[in-house]
Amino acid sequence: MAKKILFAQKYGFCFGVKRAVEALEKNKGKAYTLGPIIHNPLLVKAYKNRGIFPINDLDKIPPGTKVYIRAHGVANKIIKKGVKAGIDFVDLTCPFVKKSQILAHSLENKGYKVVIIGKKNHPEIMAIAGNLKSPMVISGLKEIKKIKNIKRLGIVCQTTSNIEKTAEIVTTIKKINPSAVIFNTVCQATKERQAAAVTLAKKTDLVIVVGGKNSSNTKKLKEICSNYTPTYQIEDEKSLKEKWFTNKKIIGLTAGASTPDWIIRKVFDIIKKLPN
Ligand code: F3S
Repeated sequence: MAKKILFAQKYGFCFGVKRAVEALEKNKGKAYTLGPIIHNPLLVKAYKNRGIFPINDLDKIPPGTKVYIRAHGVANKIIKKGVKAGIDFVDLTCPFVKKSQILAHSLENKGYKVVIIGKKNHPEIMAIAGNLKSPMVISGLKEIKKIKNIKRLGIVCQTTSNIEKTAEIVTTIKKINPSAVIFNTVCQATKERQAAAVTLAKKTDLVIVVGGKNSSNTKKLKEICSNYTPTYQIEDEKSLKEKWFTNKKIIGLTAGASTPDWIIRKVFDIIKKLPN
């Protein structure tokens, strides 16, 4: 019997990434992105070849230079500093990330101690935290003790968090600190992709997750699918190994929110050609 390849119901570019990439597609001339535009090394490389370079330090570029702010956003103080130095910003912060930034800021203004559930060094979290006076970041249940006795506790979550783990954390916080104000800001695109990944993994013998090794949401898809079936995360078709597919009849294919269609298509084409 030939191998069957099933795609997840939802996979690949989310709204925020699509919006950012479409803006870059229209770019004319040399430009920069503040950090990689998305967490996909192949796409970042493709843009470098077209004269759009990621930078981390605005001090290194002259006034008047066009700089795209990526979907993860950036702290207001960095934008202010750049505007003062004459940088021509194009803000591509995802509106859902912006919403988390606004919620966090307004909680702090109302006297809440803001706790962000997410990864400390992730750019989205750094941007949210960078707008606050004394934010705290916790990554999981093991750190929950730290926030038990905070009087006015306000919570926001990384948009790409694992939905099940976040729900568990939120339930625990409600138990230990019932007056906490909690905004579960995991975005709809993340929820849909993770739910689709579970459905896919349950009915396949193997799942291939395509996406950058540095992509948080792609790593979550890998983590989720691994609970149900053998799962491998690859950045492109070159990393596929024939031995993974031995005796596997139904192959699942999904991809992170920052994985372009052309990479997914190449992976599909190679899997399709593998011997049964
Ligand atoms: Fe925005 Fe969610 Fe994508 S926050 S960038 S739509 S993963």
